[in-house]
Amino acid sequence: MAETANPVTMDTIVSLCRRRGFVFPSSEIYGGLGSTYDYGHYGVLTKNNIRSLWFRAMVQERDDIVALDSAVILNPRVWEASGHLTVFADPLVDCRTCKLRFRADQLELASCGRKPSKRPGETPDCDLTDARPFNLMFKTQVGALEDDSSTAYLRPETAQGIFVNFKNVSQLARRKPPFGIAQVGKSFRNEITPGNFLFRVREFEQMEMEYFVPPEEAPKWFEYWIEQRLGWHRSLGLRDENLRLRGHDEQERSHYSTATSDIEYLYPIGWQELEGVANRGDYDLVQHTEHSGTKLEWIDPDGNRYTPHVIEPAVSIERIFVALLCDAYHEEVVGDRERVVLRLHPRVAPVKAAILPLVPRDEGMATRARALYEELRRHHVVEHDDSGQIGRRYRRQDEIGTPWAFTVDEQTLEDETVTVRDRDSLAQDRLPLSGVREWLDDALQQDWSSPQSR
Ligand code: GAP
Repeated sequence: MAETANPVTMDTIVSLCRRRGFVFPSSEIYGGLGSTYDYGHYGVLTKNNIRSLWFRAMVQERDDIVALDSAVILNPRVWEASGHLTVFADPLVDCRTCKLRFRADQLELASCGRKPSKRPGETPDCDLTDARPFNLMFKTQVGALEDDSSTAYLRPETAQGIFVNFKNVSQLARRKPPFGIAQVGKSFRNEITPGNFLFRVREFEQMEMEYFVPPEEAPKWFEYWIEQRLGWHRSLGLRDENLRLRGHDEQERSHYSTATSDIEYLYPIGWQELEGVANRGDYDLVQHTEHSGTKLEWIDPDGNRYTPHVIEPAVSIERIFVALLCDAYHEEVVGDRERVVLRLHPRVAPVKAAILPLVPRDEGMATRARALYEELRRHHVVEHDDSGQIGRRYRRQDEIGTPWAFTVDEQTLEDETVTVRDRDSLAQDRLPLSGVREWLDDALQQDWSSPQSR
């Protein structure tokens, strides 16, 4: 196998996602709506896998974390208390010449509206205003009246829904600090400069966990969660050389944070935040106690009261989705043919196996392939494909990252075995037809690392 020298670009990933129906521009027949996307079949399956792997690691396999699903639209006083109404803003500059808006802190990543090869402010024609804050929350109205009393906001983070439920959950879930509340759901931000495909979008799905700890233990748990989350990204198959940690300095930290470290991924646009781990201290519980009048504190069995501190790992499915596709994308020449292969972790891959009758019009092969497919699909997402030459069918599966293909061929009719083809090594082996289900169950339990880093 010869490698082709084709570095992965965001355009390559966008075009694969489009071609294979992972992701489409949203409301495309009306010209789209800047940086919003719809997910097709394989995109939905991949997102489901990411979400359930996160939930499994954060809730199912632990004793100390429970789940929550809070509303997207909360009482607007929540955002007053959390500080989002006043400080959840990005610095914005306008160009009076080209009328475009830019994030003042990211001018070096933006392109001038008239000369895209230059940065805003680099040409003599650029006429930038001073930076001013731009609040990122989407406003809406609740109910029939359109006045200030009906103004509400789409949540810009899922975390506040957790804090305002602290009392409910801590009383009912019978957990004592350290314990966590985990939530997955959509968040909305009116980003000034969305872009780079799904990396920065206005509507995204966050997976956040707030871990409530005794105040003196906060530094220890902060380090613990950085390690846990980094280990989780590695366990999905992201290559070590593409992951790093970066601590925020004081200026960069959010208004609520006393310490933040980003887990960064080497995206085609450079090192960027994949996931943030923050020590939020007692900021949120104190703010909500003051604004709501409800005491959000912990009383230990000896009657001692304290406000727990919070460690928060927060990530979006979109950032993981893009990182996984960039990490997995590979082009190579096999024999005299080029193939595109997505070397996704089998547990992340949208389809776990393809079932292919070698000669679809042969009734013996067709019947056996269909029966195998119907058995396997009760347990895993698998595909049956009987259209086109076998080589083309393999390549279609390689492009969507299907780790294994089971081919029913002439030999199956003689000895009831099938060929199993491995996506990465292209090795082919034979298995008894009756043992395929167990073989697949077992293969999906194995640890996996990218062949590119072995
Ligand atoms: N509750 C804390 C919080 O929301 P954040 O750093 O603003 O912190 C957390 O966001 C994570 O959400 C980020 O690490 C990133 O994975 C994801 N994220 C934030 N803004 C995003 C956007 N516009 N598009 C996609 N993902 C985003």
